[in-house]
Amino acid sequence: MPDRSLTPMLRQYLAIKKEYPDAILFFRMGDFYEMFFEDARTAAPLLEVVLTTRDKNKVNAVPMCGVPYHALDGYARKLLNRGYKVAVCEQVEDPAVAKGIVRREVTRVLTPGTALEMDTGDTENRVVASLFLDDVHGALATTDIAAGEFEVRSVDCGDLASLADELYRKAPNEVIIPENNETDWRELERLVPELTRIPITRMASHEYHQVENETRLTTQLQIESIEGLGLSGFGAAICAAGVLIKYLQSVRKTALKNITSLRFVPLASHLILDAVAYRNLEILKNLRTQTNRGSLLWAVDFTVTPMGKRLLRNWLSYPLADPAAIERRLDGVEACAGDLITRTEIRRVLKDAGDLARLNSRISLNVGQPHHLIKLADVLRRIPELRELVSAFNTAIINDIHSGLDPLEPIVAMIDAAVDTDPAPNLNEGRVIRPGYHKELDNLRAISRDARELIAALEREERRKTGISSLKIKYNRVFGYFIEVTKTHLALVPDTYTRKQTLVNAERFVHAELKELEDRILRAEEKSIQLEKELFAKIISRIQNHAAMLARNSELMGRLDVLTAAAELARRRNYVRPAVSDHCRLHISGGRHPVVETNPEVNFVPNDTKMNGSGEQVLVITGPNMGGKSTYLRQNALIVIMAQAGLFVPAESAEIGVCDRIFTRIGASDSLMEGKSTFMVEMIETAVILNNATARSLILLDEIGRGTSTYDGLSIAWAVIETLHESPPRPRTLFATHYHELTALAHIFDGVRNYHIAVREWQDNVVFLHKVSPGATDQSFGIHVARIAGIPDTVIERAKEVLLNLEKKELNRLITERISGRIKEIRPQAGSLFPDSAVIEAWDDIRGRLKEIDISTITPLQAMHLLNELKARSEKLK
Ligand SMILES: Nc1ncnc2c1ncn2[C@@H]1O[C@H](COP(=O)(O)OP(=O)(O)OP(=O)(O)O)[C@@H](O)[C@H]1O
Ligand SMILES: [Mg+2]
Repeated sequence: MPDRSLTPMLRQYLAIKKEYPDAILFFRMGDFYEMFFEDARTAAPLLEVVLTTRDKNKVNAVPMCGVPYHALDGYARKLLNRGYKVAVCEQVEDPAVAKGIVRREVTRVLTPGTALEMDTGDTENRVVASLFLDDVHGALATTDIAAGEFEVRSVDCGDLASLADELYRKAPNEVIIPENNETDWRELERLVPELTRIPITRMASHEYHQVENETRLTTQLQIESIEGLGLSGFGAAICAAGVLIKYLQSVRKTALKNITSLRFVPLASHLILDAVAYRNLEILKNLRTQTNRGSLLWAVDFTVTPMGKRLLRNWLSYPLADPAAIERRLDGVEACAGDLITRTEIRRVLKDAGDLARLNSRISLNVGQPHHLIKLADVLRRIPELRELVSAFNTAIINDIHSGLDPLEPIVAMIDAAVDTDPAPNLNEGRVIRPGYHKELDNLRAISRDARELIAALEREERRKTGISSLKIKYNRVFGYFIEVTKTHLALVPDTYTRKQTLVNAERFVHAELKELEDRILRAEEKSIQLEKELFAKIISRIQNHAAMLARNSELMGRLDVLTAAAELARRRNYVRPAVSDHCRLHISGGRHPVVETNPEVNFVPNDTKMNGSGEQVLVITGPNMGGKSTYLRQNALIVIMAQAGLFVPAESAEIGVCDRIFTRIGASDSLMEGKSTFMVEMIETAVILNNATARSLILLDEIGRGTSTYDGLSIAWAVIETLHESPPRPRTLFATHYHELTALAHIFDGVRNYHIAVREWQDNVVFLHKVSPGATDQSFGIHVARIAGIPDTVIERAKEVLLNLEKKELNRLITERISGRIKEIRPQAGSLFPDSAVIEAWDDIRGRLKEIDISTITPLQAMHLLNELKARSEKLK
């Protein structure tokens, strides 16, 4: 577009827009934010505002749309929710005094992961992730700017799968990647399809210079060197974290005073739950509804503060793998569980304390409002009481809370002295700083207050002088103070009055005395508001100096909240402390599913689990549909996760050898993995398990092989169990299946055990007992379940017939009887697993002959002959 055809204003617009090519530019013009060109075309339909044109009559009419300035938040939020960024460009000089065009600058960029002023009060995290890979490592740095959290994780180069899991778990609102790294990103998107919906910012490659990023980090965190963070030798982590800081500074356009520490986590220190396990076990989200309701987090969350909520989420996302660290948390929970009174008191004090981390962030990033200070003082005032209460306990994790919490009394005292208890919502109205805090402010206020009194006196005086009893002195923003006289009394108005405005029923006037008074009032008011702003800024800046301590307080209050909440949970639901150690056992008695048991319609039946790395390594669980196989598998995994997170568990007793990773292959997640069949997804997930499990892993396999033909599926399932059992590392495995044929495995392999879920048949119906008991079952109750589900009777009857035929001829008899009958001879290869039909018939025949024998009448000789013949025939069949 040729520049000459543009007005100076549009030229200014384009110059600014050039700096923010990937954001929608909100260009302040008077009382509106205007958008032009492409931005207007994109935004108008999303914001549901009219797309018009500027300079309509010109050839190159410019598309534009606008929103009122006071509605910025609502409109910006709409765009952020769609993944756009919004650059807010303000007029930075007073239009009245500007020479030529008003100077404008972008004062902040709102992005989906950083716009904490858009906060709707939810406790959902706002996360920005920064990803970087070099030749040695891959790293993912993340911040939750509202909570002031900053951490970086590093994995071996090439381990994109772990990075993908990490991205899934963090669920960032936006991601930063280097501009030239599309390949890795595509691969990550393939691994975690949810990523395709996340907005991406590409940073120039020169930003990923290691030395420069070290400086960014040391400057931000005010430390001498990055060594103390454990980051030396982790170039990728340094760059990912440094670039993240750079990005945040560029969008917030202010120092990030709330980010005072960086947590560096090498991946191995946690129980690994990959994205598949996460989804399947519904740790944070219900698989079906994709909401929190029905998830593990939802079921066990008794926290009362947002800090606690975030921390609990974190504990469940990163269960520990070190028994000593787990015991430390469990000690804390146990202490709280044992003292009802103190626990209840602590929870009462914490309740409604608000979100200290977010207050700290707002204040640090200069978006704090007066009422945030009141809230801050309120939270801090609770600290002495909390310290007093926790001194009742004597266990390491709580002692740390006691010694770490700092009431920051000087800050509380300052806020109490300076800020009105019910301050105006913003600084333009005055009424924020308390009377008595600042002498000059008090003086200015006195002037405006007295002047008001004078206005009232003047009004009385004018009424008296003119004899117009209805005369009023009023104020509006356009004319300031004026005298209003109704039409009926106009004749009485003296000459000294100057007419200002005529209304239908009245006339408005001013006169010299009123004008002078008005000046005094307005000047004093203006000055006092200006002074209030200055005082407020000073208070904010003093608080900012304590950002690190506030962050620490917030973390410790969060921890106390989680410990007391976990204790409350344990007491209300009858959970026990698990015994956690380094062995490979998993012994649970009376275990329950933490989510299912909370369903008031379910009368939950507890079940035992006994596993270890040798004799009871693979449990094959059979049972009817709806029996509870899947529930049982998941409940074991969830109990392990809760125990390793440091929480009590839903059981009578639990002994847990720590797991390094939980693998799952559950149900069909085909809708998520677009372009792949259910069976393909199933096989990919199974391959991951076989290739990565260690002796410390726990594996849940729920009906693998179901997505293909019976024999294929059965063979694969068979081979998978055999492999898990036969070759090291022999991970603990729970295997739920409908293939009763697989129960034969227990006869062959020492470490495979059969369990079944008991049911009773009663008047042609099934009663589910949900009890997991040793041994195999050989009945399928699928047809009964079909009936309960409402399949028409005619179909049910026909299904019964078909089943009867099948049982006679093929599946059950064929495999179950034949194979398990000769079980010790089976070499588990596909060839001998399924004998051909001639052999089956021959065996049938032999059995038939045996049945026909009447022992009471047969002679010894006949018996000898018959035996001889049968032996010869069976010999041939081997
Ligand atoms: N231990 C239990 N006590 C009480 N109810 C249970 C128990 N376990 C499961 N249930 C109930 O049974 C229902 C079905 O359980 P689940 O899905 O685990 O069965 P399943 O054996 O895996 O069935 P399918 O073979 O169809 O996959 C659950 O929704 C739950 O309401
Ligand atoms: Mg199931």
